[in-house]
This record gives sequence, C-alpha cells and structure tokens, in this order.
Amino acid sequence: MNTFETHVVSPRGNSRIVVGNGALARLGELAATAVKGRRVCVVTDANVGNLHLEPALASLRAAGFAAESVALPAGEKTKSVEWLVTLWNTFNGYGLTRSDLVVALGGGVVGDLAGFASATYLRGCAIVQVPTSLLAQVDSSVGGKTGIDLPFGKNLAGAFHQPAVVVVDPLVLKTLPPPRFAEGMAEVVKYGCIADDDLFADLEAFAGNPGDAEALRAIIQRCVQIKADVVNRDELDTGERMLLNFGHTVGHAIEKVMGYGYISHGEAVAIGMTAAARLGESLGATPAGTAARIEALLKRFALPTTTAFTAADIFEAMLADKKKLGKQIHFILLSTIGRAVRRPFDPDALRQALDGVLAGMTGDGTEV
Ligand code: GLY
Repeated sequence: MNTFETHVVSPRGNSRIVVGNGALARLGELAATAVKGRRVCVVTDANVGNLHLEPALASLRAAGFAAESVALPAGEKTKSVEWLVTLWNTFNGYGLTRSDLVVALGGGVVGDLAGFASATYLRGCAIVQVPTSLLAQVDSSVGGKTGIDLPFGKNLAGAFHQPAVVVVDPLVLKTLPPPRFAEGMAEVVKYGCIADDDLFADLEAFAGNPGDAEALRAIIQRCVQIKADVVNRDELDTGERMLLNFGHTVGHAIEKVMGYGYISHGEAVAIGMTAAARLGESLGATPAGTAARIEALLKRFALPTTTAFTAADIFEAMLADKKKLGKQIHFILLSTIGRAVRRPFDPDALRQALDGVLAGMTGDGTEV
C-alpha cells in the first residue's frame, strides 16, 4: 500500500494523519497506538454505517478493542445539542473512561459532532477520525475544529480538539454519490488556488481522467499536507488559517440566504471562489485570466460558477458572518493561482465592488 503520514503538532495534543488506499483496514492497529484504554465507541450515520461499519469494527476488534457503535440519522440536522447529549449518554452507557476512545466514521457532520462530544465528555477523551467523504478527508477531519449548529447559525458552539489519528482511505470514496464527490472537489480546487499552482495543474489533468485512483490518492495527500502545514502555523485560526476561507465569504452568505440544504457547501464555495477571483481581477489584485481558469476547472467537476444573487441579496448575511473582524470584512483574494492574501474591506466599498462582480456572474437563467 502506498501510505503517507504527516502530523499536526499542537499544545492541545498531536495528530497523526495517515493517507493510503486501503487504510481503513489498519484502523485498529493505528487506534491501538493512540490510547491506553480498550473500549471504543464508533460514531457513524445510517448511510455510512451500512457501507463501512463492519470492516471498521472488525479491524478494531482484531486489535483487541471492545468495540461498540452508534448510528445517527444522516444529515446536517444531526449536528445539534440534542444529538450531542445523546452521544454523551451513549458513551456513558458503554462505560467509556477518559483513557478510552471515540471513532468518528463518516463525513463532516459525524466528524464535527463526535469530535465535540469527545472534546467535552469527561473533559475530553481521545478521538480517531475516519473521514468517508472527500470534503471531510481533505478539510474537516484535519485540524481539530469540532462543533455543532445552534438554532441561530452553523458551527456556533464547538472546541479545538485534535484527533489522535486521522485515517484517510481514498478507496472509501468509490461509493460516494457524484454530487458529494463534486462538493469535496470544490475544497480541493481551493487548495490549488490558495497554496499550490502545481496541484492546480494536476487537477486540470485529473479532470480529464477522474477514474485514476492513484492520481486521486496523490491529490488528497497533497491537500492533507497543505491543511496540516497551515494548522501547524496557525492552529487557532487567528491569521494564516483564515486563507482556507477563500471562496467562503460569498459562499457562506449564499448558503445562508438560500437556506441550508438547498445548495451544497461545495457548490456555494465554487460560486464564492469565482466571485473572489473576479473581485480580485476587478481591483487589480489578481492577474487577468485567473478567474476564467478557475471557472473552467470548476465546471469540469460539475460545480456551478454563476449566480442570480446580487450584492444586496447576500450582503446582510455576509456582515453577520462570524469571520468579520471589527467593522471590516476580511476577504481572501488571490495574488496568483497558488497564493492567497487576506484583505480588509470597508463594508460599503466591498458592497460596491461586489455589485459589479455578481452582475457579471448571471448565466443562462437557471443559476442559483
Ligand atoms: N475548514 C477551515 C478550517 O479548518 O479552518
């Protein structure tokens, strides 16, 4: 197996990240190196559980763990206070102690919720993340952000809690429905845009041969390394980590205005990256032609690049975003493909500039 390892090193605990086709079979062996205890609760959802729970439990039991599991309803609604309490009760029912382990087997919802439950149960026990969506493999499982949604917004309660191990097996993505794969590709394209022009060029080649499993593994490995490097330099998201929000300022606002569930996070981020690249070009901060190259790549991954929303439609949602710093909105622009910069804007100036950008992003009338 072509296996790659990298680490997040933090005062809050280190994270060992293993990427390899077939790595799920090594879950038990990897988990055994992370904790002293031998009880484990695997948290999954009904969809992922049907596909991957049995091999995960078998690997854990073969390594000597007493492994139990809980399957939650699939979907963002599960990232709630109610399900957090259910997980605490479940861990208690299984007799988990602080030296035992939680395993999150699933996409971003399972990872964020189980991560927060493990961060808070008995004031913190270890978690191993086993991400099963592309988005979770390249983004949410790495870096220790955990949390739940509150009735007034997404991810509004949470904690930084580094997973002891992240087991990334790209082969599990074979069962991912195409729209969910495309959703993850938006974050993959983002890494090329903000940090790695070679990765961006590799993605242009991969779009012509998307069945190449070894190319996909190498792409995921590269994204994981970029994310780990950024988190190692700015774990608590006060500086460089904000560059990971390229495309997210407009993207989050569109998700919020449309209502969560009507557009995927990745689709919203694809539109947001298009808007950010065009905004950079209109301000002379991004070289001409950058937006066209990004849009062409996003389209090849079946991601949207047009919108009928105007700046007026989405601006309130943008102002309410928790990433606003003081009176200014911090927007991520590209100085070129492979390099991002954070730029503060006076809200009125940003609204004026976005007016023109979004007016140029209407497509054939079917756009979001
Ligand atoms: N998903 C962005 C971050 O982890 O900071």
